[in-house]
Amino acid sequence: MVPEISVLIPQEEIQKRVEELGSKITRDYSGKSLTLLAVLKGAFVFMSDLARCIDLPLTMDFLGLSSYGDKTETSGVVRITSDLTQPVKDRDLLIVEDIVDSGLTMNFLYENIKTRLPRSIKVCSFLDKPGRRRVSIDVDYVGFRIEDRFVVGYGMDYKGLYRNLPYLGALDIDSLSGEVEK
Ligand code: IMP
Ligand code: MG
Repeated sequence: MVPEISVLIPQEEIQKRVEELGSKITRDYSGKSLTLLAVLKGAFVFMSDLARCIDLPLTMDFLGLSSYGDKTETSGVVRITSDLTQPVKDRDLLIVEDIVDSGLTMNFLYENIKTRLPRSIKVCSFLDKPGRRRVSIDVDYVGFRIEDRFVVGYGMDYKGLYRNLPYLGALDIDSLSGEVEK
């Protein structure tokens, strides 16, 4: 069965918002040693666009995390599936995420990264679903706040598909079941 996907945020609107975030980050991190740290796989599209809207010297690294078992709800158990390639000690870190939902993934990541003694850690998430929070998380830069819908596109998937949609779509998951890969 092919699921129904409706456009929630069109490509042009995403581009405009990412440019705004990039300008703000450029101002806020002027003179600092910025490292962007993207959470794979979902954040790779956002990271790629965002990085090109930041007018500063910066480095990038990637981290693979997984928490979902076989559903569209988090299992609450987060693990690192692929770690950073460089030390982050004394760097100003900006964690780049696709979406903060329950907050469990970001909470785990934040606590883990903190032990590596960066100079600072902030969080930039393309989407925020505040209605589903199970742990309190400060998201310093938010692209869009959305309601509790299951979304795909712009890096986000359902069963590994739809990451390449250039817009953000809402998927009707009531009739579907299966694994959500991050
Ligand atoms: P959390 O631990 O519940 O905050 O889960 C965050 C992660 O779950 C995100 O980084 C996404 O990879 C994934 N996720 C949460 N909501 C959605 C969604 O609506 N669509 C696709 N992936 C999602
Ligand atoms: Mg993610």
